[in-house]
Amino acid sequence: SAAEKGGYDYFMLKEIAEQPKAVADTLLGRIDAGGSLTLDEIRIPVSVLREAAKVVIVACGTAFHAGLIAKYAIEHWTRIPCEVELASEFRYRDPILDQRTLVIAISQSGETMDTLMALRHAREQGAKVLAICNTNGSTIPRESDAVLYTHAGPEVAVASTKAFMTQLVACYLVALYLGQVRGTKWGDEIQAVIRDLAKISGEVERVLETMEPVRELARSLAGKNTVLFLGRHVGYPVALEGALKLKELAYMHAEGFAAGELKHGPIALIEEDLPVVVVVPSPRGRSVLHDKIVSNIQEIRARGARTIVIAEEGDETVVPYADHLIRIPATPTLLQPLVSTVPLQVFACELATARGNEVDQPRNLAKSVTVE
Ligand code: AGP
Repeated sequence: SAAEKGGYDYFMLKEIAEQPKAVADTLLGRIDAGGSLTLDEIRIPVSVLREAAKVVIVACGTAFHAGLIAKYAIEHWTRIPCEVELASEFRYRDPILDQRTLVIAISQSGETMDTLMALRHAREQGAKVLAICNTNGSTIPRESDAVLYTHAGPEVAVASTKAFMTQLVACYLVALYLGQVRGTKWGDEIQAVIRDLAKISGEVERVLETMEPVRELARSLAGKNTVLFLGRHVGYPVALEGALKLKELAYMHAEGFAAGELKHGPIALIEEDLPVVVVVPSPRGRSVLHDKIVSNIQEIRARGARTIVIAEEGDETVVPYADHLIRIPATPTLLQPLVSTVPLQVFACELATARGNEVDQPRNLAKSVTVE
């Protein structure tokens, strides 16, 4: 009913709008007055977290994209090697697991069969499993050694939005917590990022307030067949997620690429007026990546692409090459997905609507996939 949708036309719109609150709720009570993380709810003993030799993340779909982003954070802040694998592939390749492997299973529903089978396999091999889950008491957390709940609230739309954002928050919390308990050289940075995380909900809100041009752009592209998405570093999984949303909702051919891979093949796809969304990393800090992606934008534009550039406020270098410019607030490098994902969600939702698709119930899809 309209009341359930809180005045929005679709649950997806409501859930996109709820993201600042979902993000804040997932942080609530997990940062203490001194600015340290308190994740005692992770009942895995600190000694086990200190001795973990490897982290393996298993998940499907959008949750898998959260896992890909988590890898950058975990390896950077903890120096523990981290693999991310599609849950549906995991157990069939005889993965190497033991007591010193920490497996993280990410799932909104907690009922995804592929993810459940992956974690059962991991536990049989002696690994410890931490679930990141949005649904209290669901099967995946019940069968795991520990759980960190995301507090997105119920997600009704088939296409995941607010649950993804809170999965990211939970992944950052786990990465920072592992860094905190293991004591790495990044101690000061970890403290600073915890402070930035505490403010991020307001930044998400700010992005939401500037989405009208994105909706307009989406409507203007309703007749297109293909949209490509490019990103680097944590912007790469964001590109994959942007493409998945467009497939699910707009039933369009959409692909995400690592921008550095362009020259190894995908650049052959570029043709006159092809929309290409580019997620640009911050020009601060690891700016080498920024400069490389700006040259990618130049290259594809020279070949006729219609460039849709998502870049940090104040980043002027992209202006001459952007046919459409979408601004996002400055964040620490690793946290950028929390703001860069939002325009891609809005874009997919509006394109789907413009194409007359059923936004909350896309064809052929179910909210949780309880078969293998
Ligand atoms: C998200 O938009 C999708 N509908 C889908 O990829 C989903 O993320 C995937 O099926 C995993 O679901 P889960 O998080 O409930 O395990």
